[in-house]
Amino acid sequence: MGTKRRLEREAEQEAKKAKKESKSKAESAREAERDAAQVDLDRLQQVNRAAKKEERRLIVVLEDACLETVKWGKGFGLLNVDEHSGILRKHGRDLTSARPDIAHQCLLMLMDSPLNRAGLLQVFIRTANNVLIEVNPQTRIPRTFPRFAGLMVQLLHKFSIKASDSSVKLLKVIKNPVSDHLPVGCKKVLMSYSADKIVKPSDLVPSDLDAPLCVVIGAIAKGSVETDYTEESACIGNYPLSAALTCTKITSAFEEAWGVF
Ligand SMILES: C[S@@+](CC[C@H](N)C(=O)[O-])C[C@H]1O[C@@H](n2cnc3c(N)ncnc32)[C@H](O)[C@@H]1O
Repeated sequence: MGTKRRLEREAEQEAKKAKKESKSKAESAREAERDAAQVDLDRLQQVNRAAKKEERRLIVVLEDACLETVKWGKGFGLLNVDEHSGILRKHGRDLTSARPDIAHQCLLMLMDSPLNRAGLLQVFIRTANNVLIEVNPQTRIPRTFPRFAGLMVQLLHKFSIKASDSSVKLLKVIKNPVSDHLPVGCKKVLMSYSADKIVKPSDLVPSDLDAPLCVVIGAIAKGSVETDYTEESACIGNYPLSAALTCTKITSAFEEAWGVF
């Protein structure tokens, strides 16, 4: 009898101990969860701080860029008026719809700019066929057109171009619409010679120096660009400019305002 009682007491104590242990395990799991949440929160705050730091930024969207591949010889080429006028005529295409050299010139101006070197420029390209491309600020645009054409053909077929020495994507095709990739509340201005509002390029710099701005420039030879995501249009000066010169005038104005030399 005594032995039975002792065994019962021992069993009771064991059960109590197990309960206590499982309680402390659950508690420590909850604590770990709380810690993890805290870590996530810290990370989120870090990311938010970083995003805030990045707020001062000029975003340029090159709209309607003529970047289209064409079967050419044994491989593919970038459709352009100099090499493919026969194909364009055969298909009744307007020769000015095959001017990828305009996007090339714009990209050279933008990516070479001190503004880009200072990490204050983000460039997107939207092709006439509605392909949206994000350009990593570290991308070195080939200086010659044949090399640029080769790179674009590769991009349009493979959807991304990686850096040769790392897995960083320098150029990548991303999902439309472009507005999904812009900071919340970012003002978007369409640059057009036919806009009613005539301003100096420096007038485009937001008065809140830390606010981002998105300008849309047509990478086109003629005609006008139409967008459904810009809030206003602006013309800089009394003369029609090339797209590349428009890029340069705008980046220069922002460099001046933001003290980038
Ligand atoms: C060669 S222009 C295209 C010409 C087009 N007929 C026009 O009126 O804008 C290429 C792009 O440069 C920009 N652009 C040219 N002149 C401009 C000006 N004076 N003010 C603002 N943007 C201009 C526009 O974004 C335009 O889409």
